[in-house]
Formats: sequence, C-alpha cells, structure tokens
Amino acid sequence: MRGKEFSFSLFGESHGKVVGVLIEGCPPGLEVDKQEMRVDLERRKGKKRFSTERRERDEPEILSGIFNGRTTGAPITVVVKNKDVDSTFYEKIKDKPRPGHSDYTAGEKYYGYNDHRGGGVFSGRLTVGTVIAGYFAKKILSRRGVEIRAFIKSIGGIECGGCDLEDIFHEDFELCPDDDAWERMHGLMKEVQDDGDSIGGIVEVVAKDVVSGLGGPFDEDLAADISKNFFCIPAVKGVEFGSGFEVSEMRGSEANDEFYFEDGEVKTSSNHCGGILGGISNGMPIVARVAFKPTPSIFKEQGTVDLEKGEDTGLRLKGRFDSCIVPKTLSIVEARMAVVLADHLLRWYSWKEFMNLERE
Ligand SMILES: Cc1cc2nc3c(=O)[nH]c(=O)nc-3n(C[C@H](O)[C@H](O)[C@H](O)COP(=O)(O)O)c2cc1C
Repeated sequence: MRGKEFSFSLFGESHGKVVGVLIEGCPPGLEVDKQEMRVDLERRKGKKRFSTERRERDEPEILSGIFNGRTTGAPITVVVKNKDVDSTFYEKIKDKPRPGHSDYTAGEKYYGYNDHRGGGVFSGRLTVGTVIAGYFAKKILSRRGVEIRAFIKSIGGIECGGCDLEDIFHEDFELCPDDDAWERMHGLMKEVQDDGDSIGGIVEVVAKDVVSGLGGPFDEDLAADISKNFFCIPAVKGVEFGSGFEVSEMRGSEANDEFYFEDGEVKTSSNHCGGILGGISNGMPIVARVAFKPTPSIFKEQGTVDLEKGEDTGLRLKGRFDSCIVPKTLSIVEARMAVVLADHLLRWYSWKEFMNLERE
C-alpha cells in the first residue's frame, strides 16, 4: 500500500523463512507493545475448529524502527518466522493448478519461477504483515479517537440480524453480534467442511469517530482508496459502502441522508452513503462490506490441466486448508481500513496545521 504519508510493503512466502512487513511514514513516539500486537495476530488465526491445522506461534520480531519501546519515525520492519511448514504435497501438484487459486496466473506472470509452495506470495499467510501494519495504523488513529471494528455479516447466505455499534465495539466482542445466526453459520461451516467443500461470506467493518474532511474527489476519493485496499486481501470479490448496491433500487428521497444539528455538530439521520460523500468522510461512521469467495482449495475432485503433459486431468487435494476463511479475516479487513484512514488523517493534519497559521 503506497499512501502519501503512510505506506507499507509485504514480503515473504508461505513456505519461506519468514513473512513480514516494511512500514514507512509512521510518526515517532508511539508506544509499541508486542502483546497488543499479538491480539490482532491471534484474531487472524480465526476459530480453531474451522481454521487450518497449520499452527504457527506468530511471534513478531521487530528488526528496525522501534527504540526504547517507541516508534522512532524511521522505517519499521517486523518479521514472523514460518515454522510449521510441509511442502511435500505442493511438489506433487506443481504442474496442476488448483482451480480458483492463483497457481495458474502466478505461473503465467512469473514464467514458472515463482515459489509455488503453499501459494507462495499469494498465500493468506502474508496477511500477517497486513495485520502488523494495521497495528501501527490503529495506533495513529487512536490519537484522534478513531476506532475500527469488523464483524461477520454473513456466511453461506446466513445473515447476522441487527448489529448494535456498542456490541461490536465492546472489548469482549469476537466474531458475530448475533449469537443465533452465528450458531447456524457454525453448523453450516461444519457441514461444508465434512463434505470436503468450502464456503464464503461477508465481513462488515465500521470506523467510528472519523473526522469529516478525509479524502477528496476523483483520485483522492476515500472510498476508492479503501476499496483498493480491501481488494488487496486475497479472496475478496466485492466491496460496498453504506447501502451499497441497494441504493440502485431506492428513490432519491430514500437514499439521501438528511442533515441535522446535534450539539452543534452536523449529523445525518441515515447513513446510506456509509460515511463518505463526494469521496470525503462526512463525520458519520464509515461502514463497508467485503465479500469473500469460498476457499479455493477443497477436497472434492475437480478438473484442471497438467501443464507438463499438456492435457486435461483431475485433481483431488490433500493437506491443510480452511473450509471457510471468513472468521480469519476480521483483523485483516480492519487493518486495511486503518492504513488508509491513518494515511488520510496524517494528510489532513498537515492542512489543518497550515489553515491555523496566522496570515503573513
Ligand atoms: C486469511 C486468508 C487465508 C486463506 N487461506 C487459504 C487456504 O487455506 N486455502 C486456499 O486455497 N486459499 C486461501 N486463501 C485464499 C487465497 O489466498 C486466494 O483465493 C488466492 O490467492 C487467489 O486469489 P483471489 O481469490 O483473490 O483471486 C486465504 C485468504 C486469506 C485472506
């Protein structure tokens, strides 16, 4: 992600030595607590029962940019070692691209020189670095009181009912605010897993107490920047803000969010725009939904090609795969929202500082 103030680059491979992140533009003086960093890394592992059996300790190792427990303002590098790696099965399917995965396109793009083991750089494992970048971005945002929370909106078409902001921003909140819906999602995931298949779902993310004025028109559009970042998460196939695609079926009189004053602040009585108007945050919660496809690696027999022999063939996978990745993605989605907001907030502060200067 290349922001104007805050940027990060992911590196590493699924079955390489490490995965990690290089973060640039993080202001100095932010207190860094590895234990806090681990919280979102643990959330990235999802629920034990439905996540891959690969068990990593995900211990972040800070290589640069932190001194005496605080950010220095210099580039930050953090790595996490890959320990629990078994590549034997990937050797067997080297020439047989998994349908739905990046194996085929990666081979085309990199002329077969790519590290194919465990999906290489395309693996969900690289989102460890995203979550670490999100940790620093959240630190920046917390200075201004901005908080971000994601929750499971649906899995396999089973929808979470109502959602109270207080519930999802509660410190004990985990995955889904609707217990009954979560139980049914859970049941469906188990059923699908037992069938050797996979399933997708939707994550909703809310950023609250965002200042008005972040973003701009066209290429500065805040929703465009956030969307691009969501699409940088593997397996994301759709993004919408506020009422999203539903607005296409509304009248203007329904879709327009009416303004009113509350304690001297401008608010809107609805939030169909999802907190972004004209590409600029309007001070209401930023609400977005991110659709994840079913995990490509499944245990059912599927058709593919043998690139070595140049013929059609079948493929039955073995190994360790998540039947549903959605429960693993909450801290990743939050991180992608956080890095964009942190970048825009840092830009906003420089204008604010300038506007407060006395005229010369
Ligand atoms: C956290 C996370 C974990 C993932 N785990 C798996 C997995 O275990 N097996 C798999 O086939 N795909 C997994 N994926 C999805 C693939 O990485 C992704 O579908 C693949 O790279 C193809 O990219 P695309 O779906 O964006 O086109 C995971 C994605 C994320 C975000």
